[in-house]
Order: sequence, then C-alpha cells, then structure tokens
Amino acid sequence: MDPSYNLRKFEPKDLHQVMSINRRCLPENYSESFFISLYKNFPETFIVAEKDGTVVGYIMCRIESGFSSIGFSPFSLSKKGHIISIAVLPEHQRKGLGRALIEKALETMTKFYNAKICYLEVRVSNEPAIRLYKKVGFEIQRTIRGYYADGENAYIMSRRIQS
Ligand SMILES: CC(C)(COP(=O)(O)OP(=O)(O)OC[C@H]1O[C@@H](n2cnc3c(N)ncnc32)[C@H](O)[C@@H]1OP(=O)(O)O)[C@@H](O)C(=O)NCCC(=O)NCCS
Repeated sequence: MDPSYNLRKFEPKDLHQVMSINRRCLPENYSESFFISLYKNFPETFIVAEKDGTVVGYIMCRIESGFSSIGFSPFSLSKKGHIISIAVLPEHQRKGLGRALIEKALETMTKFYNAKICYLEVRVSNEPAIRLYKKVGFEIQRTIRGYYADGENAYIMSRRIQS
C-alpha cells in the first residue's frame, strides 16, 4: 500500500464519508442504522483507509456462526467472516488499498473473533473485484442465480483463514 495512506478502525464520525463512498462506488446501498449496527457488533472488522485525514475506502464485515462446507467436516460448527461491503474511491484505486483492507480484515477476523474462513458475494461481471479476491486467496465456490436486485448472478467466493 502507498505509504501516504493509513488503515484504522471505523469511528462513528466517519459514517457520512463511508456512506458517500458506498453510494459512489456500489449499487448496493444501506441505511445509517445498518452501518452502525455492523460497527457496534463487529467493530474490529470495520476498517477505513484514509489519506490526509479523509476517508477514501472502507471494508465492513459480519461474523457468523454456522456449519461450514468449505474445507471442514460438514458437522463442524465454526465462525465465518462475511465481507459485507468494500469500496475504494476511483481516484485512489490501484494503489493497493483494496488488498490492504481485505488483509487487515482477515487478520482481525481471526484475532478478535476466531473466524476460520471468510466468504463474500460478488457480481459475476465485477472483474476488478474478482481479480482482487483471487489475488488474496479467495476461490469461487458457487453461483447464486439472481442474487442482486437487478437480477445479476453472484459468485460466492471464500478462503480459509486458519486451520
Ligand atoms: C474492487 C476494489 C475495492 C479494488 O480496490 P483497489 O484499491 O483498486 O485494489 P488494489 O489496488 O488493492 O488491487 C489489487 C489487485 O486487484 C486487481 N485489480 C484491482 N482493480 C482492478 C481493475 N480495475 N482491473 C483489473 N484488476 C484489478 C489487480 O490484480 C490488483 O493488483 P495490481 O494493481 O498489482 O495489478 C475497487 O475497484 C472498488 O472499490 N470497486 C467498486 C466497488 C466494488 O466493486 N466493491 C466490491 C463489491 S463485491
């Protein structure tokens, strides 16, 4: 990551900047209360990237408990990190921020919540994001037809974080 950027935990004062990045970069937008509930429940995995005091990217995640079919016995109950949303402003893309945000989130999912795997949904047409996820070790597991509001299919991608 370019050294003029730094990563830190989300704070409530960042809410409007994060919502504005979300609206600019993605068609999936959420209410204030949704962002705040993720922050309250999983503060360690809501991370922002900033430059000169301005937020330019974020990642927010949820930790879920469930039976995992990815590399585990079908009967093992484990914690899973779920990447809910990640975005970097266009003028700050391709500087390693997306990768750094994911790597930090994976680290904190394990360290603070003992997550064993991480998964996410991505539009099948979202080549930049799919390339990024593959680069940090995610693999396509399956397709969910018509997952998005406009009918587009999603890939579920996942990777193991710890054995
Ligand atoms: C996906 C996104 C978060 C990537 O952020 P980023 O900061 O540009 O990512 P990085 O600079 O860390 O890129 C890491 C690697 O991902 C791949 N990648 C990222 N953007 C790419 C693009 N536009 N085209 C091709 N590959 C791309 C490359 O392999 C890149 O490595 P390289 O620059 O050394 O070639 C950013 O494009 C974005 O915010 N997109 C809009 C929101 C979105 O789609 N979010 C994901 C929803 S599931």
